Amino acid sequence: MERLRVIGGHRLTGQIRISGAKNAVLKLMAASLLASDVTIIQNVPRIRDVEIMVKVLQSLGVEVTWDDRSTLRLDPRQGIHYSAPDELVREMRASVQVMGPLLTRLGQVKLFQPGGCVIGQRPIDLHLKGFQALGAEVVEEHGYVYVQAPKLRGAEIHLDFPSVGATENIMAAAILAEGTTVIRNAAKEPEIIEEQNFYNRLGARIRGAGTDMIRIEGVSRLQPKPIEYTVIPDRIEAGTYMLAAAITGGDLELEEVIPEHLESLTAKLREAGAEIVTAEERLRIRVGRRLSAVDVTVLPYPGFPTDLQPQIAAVLSLADGTSVLTENVFGSRFRYVDELIRMGANIRVEGRSAIVKGVPRLTGASVIAPDLRAGASLVVAGLAAEGETILEGVAYLDRGYEAMEQKLQAVGADIRRESDAPVETEMVV
Ligand code: EPU
Repeated sequence: MERLRVIGGHRLTGQIRISGAKNAVLKLMAASLLASDVTIIQNVPRIRDVEIMVKVLQSLGVEVTWDDRSTLRLDPRQGIHYSAPDELVREMRASVQVMGPLLTRLGQVKLFQPGGCVIGQRPIDLHLKGFQALGAEVVEEHGYVYVQAPKLRGAEIHLDFPSVGATENIMAAAILAEGTTVIRNAAKEPEIIEEQNFYNRLGARIRGAGTDMIRIEGVSRLQPKPIEYTVIPDRIEAGTYMLAAAITGGDLELEEVIPEHLESLTAKLREAGAEIVTAEERLRIRVGRRLSAVDVTVLPYPGFPTDLQPQIAAVLSLADGTSVLTENVFGSRFRYVDELIRMGANIRVEGRSAIVKGVPRLTGASVIAPDLRAGASLVVAGLAAEGETILEGVAYLDRGYEAMEQKLQAVGADIRRESDAPVETEMVV
């Protein structure tokens, strides 16, 4: 069992280099299932979710090797299967992103139904409706979803909600369909643009990613050539460190970021009183006074990201005044609130909103991370809390943050990982 021990009260100063984006790389790995030659992905973060996706791809028949610490080589030339083991799909929801590529490549895919998770109900109905609109048959029984379509046909699809995963899966499924597919109310996240670029490099004809209408002209085949692709920086990792700097009154420079991807957070932090300067691939945040309360409304991109909502709540719990956070993407992403209250925060959840009354100080406590971003929120709080915070549930952080404690230590945080010493048993002779 591992835990993090954080002693709060140290200003963060210095530089942090941001890793490749988790939510882009996982989808690019899945997208490589459509390639008939080798895909090389660079700037891959060494995080647990990438390891799980490696296992998913291996189980499907892809040969996976690390060329160096951050470069993955994916070779699908031995042939691909249409189903991945249940335990991997259970372990990581993002495994469902193999559905679109497999449907296009093999005409069928069967997966364990992923179901809900700690941040809310997470159905895949929009993915499946999209496949059906393209002419696929969907059978859901015995806890599995089976999708098959010997031939897919282009269609007009309007998403009820701009789901990131559904947009990506439908985009992949439409690449070899006969005719043109239009996805309306599509998700506009930067990760979608990454996939469009990747697929177009393979010979697909997709345009519009980054807007709410994506048009995919079906092509008859993709090009059998190797592809090299470099993953964009992780905007959520960058945002988490901006918030860590903010809560400690720090002065931090982030390297290898795309400041445009962080505009909603930058705007909020400036409104609260932080000084933020951006340049190409760099961002500096300085906070010289107590931040003021601000209201935050979570929305799909380019709105304020749900994946930073728990972390900004930690920061606002020390701000001057009352902030209202409204979550519009997931059903129950406030599971960190009880833990922050344990640290002295004054937060009340009412339906989709959390009302955060700023307190003058937080105090270290023993807390448990209920999920990835909630864990990040507790680390952020611990960095500013008086005394020692002990965080259990570190495995969640390892799913999405590369070398978090080393990066924080390098800018002055007092944070270390501990594990239970192996139990020593006395030999009785
Ligand atoms: N939804 C449906 N039906 C669907 C699909 C989604 O009702 O068929 C609902 C979901 O239940 C949710 C909302 O739509 O309430 C948004 O879900 P979306 O599909 O956009 O999310 P996702 O693709 O499952 C990705 C990220 C999440 C991030 C969300 C929103 C990956 C691997 N995951 O999930 O990242 O929060 O988009 O931006 O890309 C994280 O990194 O911590 C994380 C949870």
